[in-house]
Amino acid sequence: MTRLKLESIFRDFSRPLDFEVGFGRGVFLRHWSKTFPERNIIGVEIRKSIVTLLGERVEKEGIDNAHLIHGNAEIALEDTLEDNSLDNIFIFHPDPWFKKRHHKRRVVRPQFLSIAEKKLKPGGKLYISTDVTPLWEGMMESVAESNFKEIKDDHFWNDIYTTHWHTYSEEDKRDFNFGTFQLN
Ligand SMILES: C[S@@+](CC[C@H](N)C(=O)[O-])C[C@H]1O[C@@H](n2cnc3c(N)ncnc32)[C@H](O)[C@@H]1O
Repeated sequence: MTRLKLESIFRDFSRPLDFEVGFGRGVFLRHWSKTFPERNIIGVEIRKSIVTLLGERVEKEGIDNAHLIHGNAEIALEDTLEDNSLDNIFIFHPDPWFKKRHHKRRVVRPQFLSIAEKKLKPGGKLYISTDVTPLWEGMMESVAESNFKEIKDDHFWNDIYTTHWHTYSEEDKRDFNFGTFQLN
């Protein structure tokens, strides 16, 4: 993938920049863009039909501070952005890939985290959530080997984060795991 030319994508490319991995229906991405019009966000999603759908919705709603990319998050993060360019990376409810032989397809793994460390500015934050506890434990093993440290961030999780997953998680009695991790 090629480097994005932020100046030709965003109306004001000097705004702080965030990145969401696997935005799915875009519930969070749209909410974040509207809540923080003074920021820009890039979302990457591996399923093209979802990118097209959300792209139409973003345009219809007049959101001009979000840009969507179709592709693999790890490759997109490495290739499309300059180092030290992001404030926040969001990864909510990533695919669990339950079978052991598929674990290598999970997004949060050491290789992804080392790219995230490069692309975030010093003090940058990584937000992760999932209702699949074994996946959470696997992700936390990778995070423990990285330079990210968990911080308390009640304001984000209580007042800003939004998702349609809570209903499903409650129905299936699955725990909600979440955390904010900051670079030293
Ligand atoms: C379970 S859904 C969660 C969607 C959204 N984050 C949410 O919280 O509702 C996981 C999403 O990640 C996308 N995805 C999976 N692997 C990906 C990858 N390597 N790069 C980008 N997107 C990916 C899937 O297509 C799917 O839309």
